[in-house]
Amino acid sequence: MRSKTKTCSRLAAEMLVFAVFGGLAAVCLAEDSGGEESGDNGKCYVCHPAMKTEALTTIHLEMDVTCDQCHGASTEHMHDEMLMTKPDLLFGRSQVRKMCSNPTCHKPGSERRVYGRQDHMDIEAVEAFFEKWTGRMRPNGRNITPDSICTDCHGTHNISEPLKTISENEQPQWVTLFNGRDLNGWRPSDADSWGVKAGRIVGTGGALWSEESYEDYLLAITFRAAWPIHAGIWSRGEASPRVEIFESKPAFTGSVLVPGKGLALVNLRQDLEDRESWNTISIKVEGDRTQVWLNGEEIGMVRAGGPVRGKVGLYISNHGDSKPAGLIIREVLIQKLVKPEE
Ligand code: HEC
Ligand code: HEC
Ligand code: HEC
Repeated sequence: MRSKTKTCSRLAAEMLVFAVFGGLAAVCLAEDSGGEESGDNGKCYVCHPAMKTEALTTIHLEMDVTCDQCHGASTEHMHDEMLMTKPDLLFGRSQVRKMCSNPTCHKPGSERRVYGRQDHMDIEAVEAFFEKWTGRMRPNGRNITPDSICTDCHGTHNISEPLKTISENEQPQWVTLFNGRDLNGWRPSDADSWGVKAGRIVGTGGALWSEESYEDYLLAITFRAAWPIHAGIWSRGEASPRVEIFESKPAFTGSVLVPGKGLALVNLRQDLEDRESWNTISIKVEGDRTQVWLNGEEIGMVRAGGPVRGKVGLYISNHGDSKPAGLIIREVLIQKLVKPEE
């Protein structure tokens, strides 16, 4: 693999020049003076550990295109203890497509100036992906539209902070928030509306709050609902994003309501839920991100402000439908996310 380094660093150097001067004829910069070591991403991984496994980075590394070759050597950035110096090269949204479409990298077909969906090898896969995600937010926080740039679809490279993960010596631990007998650990807004029957939490209206408050966590709730219903799961108190259990066409269960902003994530797929049986909503709440899965299918992620810590709340709207709506909950599991090295 390393044998390709020389050619590739030349290509990448041309790409850099292209990126910086926006289309000047490619000029070859001096061959990398530091030899093959300069092609090592290790020095950047020290502070950007998430990039070690990130798709865009790893796929380019296979071709010996390293961080340096896109972002410049960035020596000052690496050695600035105040972390005030930016890397040598950064790319705003409007620059990404052009930078990637350098003829030596991802050459667009015919007369086009930027590499488009039609230039891909597996056009079917790209169109299927496009169909699936259009109008929705991807896990990297980007929306897919006809104007999407490469990094909207490829990788999670554009996520600024590395995601926190469970520290290595601490095994991930799921804790059950429902003991199967009573509402120990929970506080209903109205005692008549929430209870436990036959080993299930049964709710008919109002809210049921966890006694404990949480910061970053994973949550999995298995429920069935009596339709029609408008219910939801607050992530950190009443001012936080709420994952909806509802139908509000074109939005379905798994959409996310951000207080004051409306639906910030829309699940367009009704087929993900089973109205006759049990469903599991999984939520990852981390920093300002709320990521949602319904029955194992990822719906997407929203970034929103709001409380950094708060109670988990189950909610059933009392308004609207004449039929008393009900939620039956079989299982509530939570796993706190721990910050690394703290
Ligand atoms: C000593 C730690 C450290 C090292 C080493 C380091 N970085 Fe960074 N880098 C940071 C911090 C801190 C930030 C700011 C937080 C953020 O935006 O993720 C950052 C941000 C960045 C950004 C985004 C800047 C912006 O304003 O959007 C890029 C691009 C970047 N680094 C590239 C690199 C590359 C390429 C290397 C290796 C050549 C590297 N970094 C090595 C600490 C480091
Ligand atoms: C609408 C989403 C989308 C956009 C925008 C997009 N891609 Fe892709 N790309 C895909 C999908 C989907 C695949 C095929 C599946 C896979 O390999 O993961 C793919 C595959 C590729 C491949 C592998 C080989 C091939 O042609 O199939 C390359 C290289 C590539 N993209 C480069 C780019 C570049 C460069 C840009 C920006 C100029 C870009 N892509 C923009 C979705 C996108
Ligand atoms: C193929 C070129 C390429 C390579 C290789 C590459 N990057 Fe990037 N990087 C980009 C582009 C383009 C963006 C802007 C993406 C966007 O915002 O859509 C970016 C953005 C970033 C950001 C900023 C995210 C933010 O919040 O704005 C960081 C941090 C970063 N890169 C670090 C790295 C590190 C570390 C490596 C190596 C391990 C690396 N990159 C390798 C092209 C590259």
